[in-house]
Amino acid sequence: MTDTTDTTDTTDMADSAVDAPPDPNAVNVTVNGVPHVARKGQLVIEAAAAAGEYIPRFCYHERMTPVGKCRMCLVECDSGRGPAVTVSCMVPVAPDMKIETASPLAKRMQEGVLELLLANHPLDCPVCDKGGECPLQDQSFSHGAGESRYIEEKRHYEKPIPISDLVFLDQERCILCDRCTRFADEVAGDPLIHFTHRGNNTQIQTFPDEPFSSYFSGNTVQICPVGALTAKPYRFKARPWDIEQDESTCTTCAVGCRTVIQSSRDEVVRYMGVDSEPVNHGWMCDRGRFNFEAVKSDQRLLAPAVRKLDQLVETSWFEALDTATTMIQDALVAGGPQSIAVLGGARGTNEDAYALARLAREVIGTSNIYCQLGDGLPLSVLGLPRATIAEAASASTIILLGADLKEELPVLYLRLRGAASKRTSKIIEFTSKTSGLTPYAWKSISYEPGTQPTAVAVTLSDSSTITNQLATGNVVIVVGKANLAEGAEPTLAALAALLKAIPGATVLPAYRRGNVVGAAQLGLAQSSGGMHGKQIIAAASEGKIECLILVGADPLADFPDTAQAERALINAKRVIMVDTNVSASGAWADVVLPAAAYGEKSGTTTNLEGRVTRVAKKVSPAGTSRPDWMIASELALRLGTDLGYSNVDDVTASIAGNVAGYGEAIAALATTPDGIVALGDIAPPAPVTVTVPERNGYEYRLVVGRKLYDNAAGTRLSPSLVGLAGTTTLLLHPLDLDRLGAAGSSVRVTAGEISVIVPVAGDEGVLRGTAWLPANRPGVAIGGLIDSTKTVIDVKIESVGH
Ligand code: SF4
Ligand code: FES
Repeated sequence: MTDTTDTTDTTDMADSAVDAPPDPNAVNVTVNGVPHVARKGQLVIEAAAAAGEYIPRFCYHERMTPVGKCRMCLVECDSGRGPAVTVSCMVPVAPDMKIETASPLAKRMQEGVLELLLANHPLDCPVCDKGGECPLQDQSFSHGAGESRYIEEKRHYEKPIPISDLVFLDQERCILCDRCTRFADEVAGDPLIHFTHRGNNTQIQTFPDEPFSSYFSGNTVQICPVGALTAKPYRFKARPWDIEQDESTCTTCAVGCRTVIQSSRDEVVRYMGVDSEPVNHGWMCDRGRFNFEAVKSDQRLLAPAVRKLDQLVETSWFEALDTATTMIQDALVAGGPQSIAVLGGARGTNEDAYALARLAREVIGTSNIYCQLGDGLPLSVLGLPRATIAEAASASTIILLGADLKEELPVLYLRLRGAASKRTSKIIEFTSKTSGLTPYAWKSISYEPGTQPTAVAVTLSDSSTITNQLATGNVVIVVGKANLAEGAEPTLAALAALLKAIPGATVLPAYRRGNVVGAAQLGLAQSSGGMHGKQIIAAASEGKIECLILVGADPLADFPDTAQAERALINAKRVIMVDTNVSASGAWADVVLPAAAYGEKSGTTTNLEGRVTRVAKKVSPAGTSRPDWMIASELALRLGTDLGYSNVDDVTASIAGNVAGYGEAIAALATTPDGIVALGDIAPPAPVTVTVPERNGYEYRLVVGRKLYDNAAGTRLSPSLVGLAGTTTLLLHPLDLDRLGAAGSSVRVTAGEISVIVPVAGDEGVLRGTAWLPANRPGVAIGGLIDSTKTVIDVKIESVGH
């Protein structure tokens, strides 16, 4: 920029300043001699960056409290008393401050800091995972002196130390920047990694006998500015110069964290978090970050198969599609369109969901379509006034009615935990077992399953403190399915009572499956006269379904009542399965069509708040697998209708043109990676009545909850994660455990005709009179205890000894 332009700009600013009131937050400074308008409270390092001057840094991270630990960001600042050496990540701008980021003194200080940091750094860059993408390496080149005066022997420590199943620590490389420790403490709330010793001997360390078992440990690896923390699934897999990457969205759960997918030699090697202001702030959970291993699992379906003489036999796409088409036609003849049902579709892209919905509705003519399998609240909750994640995280009051977010939607947990721990929001939680957010909740109200409406009514009527709090500002209700052994009615009735009592409250539905909101908005939801997931399974188990099409759905693992799921698979006349991997339900499939997985197909996805973002294709689909939208188009064509799609962009355009809310959201993707919220038109839930039987004092009310790591395909097929899915253990309140005389033993749990024997343990977080079991975990199969026709399940528990 020339001087002349500068003068003109200043004159223009001066002219307009006559009219406009002065901005109270503007702070005039100069950065390396150039005038710049900074913001009040802005740190010098941030103001310089906004002015286009990069100050080197290690410990500073825009999402964490500054600590001024590394001293790499030293610059010269003059606030009127003469130039002073300034830690730019700790000092806010002041009026008329002169900031010099590259003066001879600033450069000497930066060189000196680097020289000191490198005095003990092992310089094992050729064998360090961080080599090639290491801020220490990069800044040594860009801001270092070029040579060192230190010739002494460097420090040596044992290396690498596995500090968890996923992370290795190499203490020699650590520069003590406090990023991992701050993240673990401040952001994740898992202060399991610390500095030990003093002065020259300061080291990073975990507690003896306590692994770094945080659900968010991968973030520390990503933000470590050297290779002190490395991730087991990525170690020695690739180098930055071998890597290609594309920005995408994690679809493991419905939070939809922004990521990049990185590949090397046509293989996915790493996911990294991307900072999206409305969604994930750069963080990911370890499940979402490390389940890329499942993409190349040897359990992937590589070729289509059809059942011949009771065996699934690999065949060509041509024969498999022909067989599937014939099955659909036979079902149409035998029972008409409504005898055909489509279950699933929430794990794919919006394009997959839309093409499948068109196949089902327009070509087959059925309205029995549903993307959930009785494991989430009805999709009608989407029809209530909706909140975004950002609105929830900035609400005065957050009411939690449902799932344990730390286990089901981990990064939403981080956002709400952040709001509560910074005291910007107060959390009122209704729960039947302490959750990840209980320690941060302002009020935690326990309820026995089935009694949520009473718990809500008592809470609202009982305490003026609560009504006063609700009146302080926005209220967002985060609602989900907390208990798989319970019907949706009690939660829906409690939600209706809250909405009635709190005018203006909005709802963030805590659906769990990756693209369940997109799938629902694009047609994989029951429409008038059609059946929802639970009803489809019930109809199939009664032999009323001629052809069951499962799309990324494994009823034996996904549907809470496994006995009924098995009857459904046995009694459905024909089963067509579209999936990425071999699943338990696959044993009943008549035709198997292999589907392309995450990272192998492009398109869009919609997160739980309705935000539409892109997913990227980074590697070739495994074997001959194809995206679901292509499979749907092929089947439609064989059934006589051309859906008109020759590539995925055709499907995206068709969604934009035809689905309410999506035109704007998809158009926005041209300029913003975050997308915008697409509000479809879904009818809100009808009023419900709740009839819950009294619990007999000798029985326990069953709660079946989710844990982050379970038998889900992405975890089961990722070698680094599979061991994290612990076993199935029943939890009881310690007093109930004593009453049963069952401490340290196993118990027999009986519901109706079904009994299972499970290990038992005491947990004070479990409400007395209730029994908590994890869903879909290795060890004991407990799905038989759940009867999906009942609103609540009471079980008998007897000690059976060791
Ligand atoms: Fe993926 Fe959900 Fe984890 Fe985010 S919170 S990384 S979307 S699984
Ligand atoms: Fe400022 Fe580390 S970045 S002290």
